[in-house]
Amino acid sequence: MIAGPVLAIETSCDETAAAVVEGRDVRSSVVASQADLHAPYGGVVPEVAARHHLGTVNAVLDEALDRAGVAAGDLVAVAVTQRPGLIGALLVGLSTARAFAYARRLPMAMVDHLHGHIAAAWLNPVALDPPFVSLVASGGHTRLDLVRDLAAPQLVGQTIDDAAGEALDKGARLLGLGYPGGPALERLAAAGDRAAHRFPIALAGKGVRDFSFAGVKTSLMYAVREAGDLDDAARADLAASYQEAIMTPLAERLVAAARQHGVPAVTVGGGVAANGRLREMVTAKAEAAGLRVAFPDRALCTDNAAMIGAAAQFTPLVEWPGFVSLDAMPTAPPGGIAA
Ligand code: KG4
Ligand code: ZN
Repeated sequence: MIAGPVLAIETSCDETAAAVVEGRDVRSSVVASQADLHAPYGGVVPEVAARHHLGTVNAVLDEALDRAGVAAGDLVAVAVTQRPGLIGALLVGLSTARAFAYARRLPMAMVDHLHGHIAAAWLNPVALDPPFVSLVASGGHTRLDLVRDLAAPQLVGQTIDDAAGEALDKGARLLGLGYPGGPALERLAAAGDRAAHRFPIALAGKGVRDFSFAGVKTSLMYAVREAGDLDDAARADLAASYQEAIMTPLAERLVAAARQHGVPAVTVGGGVAANGRLREMVTAKAEAAGLRVAFPDRALCTDNAAMIGAAAQFTPLVEWPGFVSLDAMPTAPPGGIAA
């Protein structure tokens, strides 16, 4: 473990985030969301994201140090999201972190964003230790990892088409909701009947750990088309049933994987893990199977830098100045998360 406060920076998508993490303690976590900026376009515009990160990152970084009551001279390392993500957006965070570490002769941790989502549950107060199975469901990824060692999560299942968050965002758009769709869909679904429509659950079957969301999305499209003019109650029913069809395989396969591998706990991460219905389903299924449910706070599920500070504890440090030639990467290297 890194002995002392670590400054962490995350700019892989549309959140400009910085945090100070010391061991398992989050001393500060600042997130400046650009969601409003991208809303008129119905999704994240990469160039707009990169430019906005550039204008915001230094203020967010100063705020994180300020709130933590930590001076730059007290830091022992700098962690940054290196991959995967929007390349222009990643470059802003990486260049900022590299310059900061270079000027202060600090070592760096080049962190994988998904490793961050998995490591979020290790932070206090949840303080989850391996072994466990982790579900990460976000706008770009949906995966199950068996974690026996936080330095090397093992991929045991993933989506073969859309990510869960992507399917929620596209479904929300079909129902006339804004971006980001996940939270809006959850609000609409709260008033609906989740048994009103039977949407298909793809790749059903025991032992299956992969996911597919393209089919359910198409089913929603047809249902909306057939329904014609939708009143509020009909839209709420569609939202609730659609949300149910996305969350059911996520919860079921997470718990089944934990049982299969004989581990005592499950956790969730990524933006979709902020969803109340998913949390409810995972809790019910995991408790019935005698498993511990370790959910990070919602603010640590959506993109943030504290999780990057957590994963940094399990990522090899690159000593000063060896990191100056290291670059951002839009995709994860083959073999996945481990550094
Ligand atoms: O992890 P994240 O913040 O960014 C990525 O790395 O993609 O995840 C964003 C995704 C979006 O698809 C968003 O609609 C979804 O997470 N999301 C939710 C909720 N909050 C965010 N989905 C369902 N329910 C929510 N409450
Ligand atoms: Zn994410």
